[in-house]
Amino acid sequence: MAERQIVIYGDPVLREVAKPIEEIDQEIKDLVSDMVDTIKEANGLGLAAPQVGESRRIFMVDLSAVDMTATLKVFINPEIIETEGEIELEEGCLSFPGIYQKITRSAHVKVRATDLDGSQFEIDADGILARAILHEYDHLEGKLFIDRISSIARTMLRGRLRKLSKTS
Ligand code: NI
Repeated sequence: MAERQIVIYGDPVLREVAKPIEEIDQEIKDLVSDMVDTIKEANGLGLAAPQVGESRRIFMVDLSAVDMTATLKVFINPEIIETEGEIELEEGCLSFPGIYQKITRSAHVKVRATDLDGSQFEIDADGILARAILHEYDHLEGKLFIDRISSIARTMLRGRLRKLSKTS
């Protein structure tokens, strides 16, 4: 398959609520395969389908760059079952090249999703994995990390965001 172009902030697809996957057919398998190529090429920790222009409820997390024991995981139709605690961590997003912001999110998350073989699984995550899951899940809801920063921080970013949205 092939790497796809990553959608940059300003593209309306990033604001859509993504549609559930009804069947893991060849089209979905091809999309996931393209997303794998795309996240690897971009050295991303996470990628959601809307970021390649497909408003579908799929995301993937690949922490192998920061944790040698980690493998890429695909989440289809994910549901957040439980969250706990709160922590501030710096985040970036492939749709916002060069922009990093401290964001407060839940410290722990329990997520249920379907894998590429159609099996349901649950993951209890902390740390950077929890962070990546919550960030990617937001993409499926049309939410972006800049929605979670203070209005002061957003004001300070305004010029850079405007520039990004012009390139998209
Ligand atoms: Ni992102």
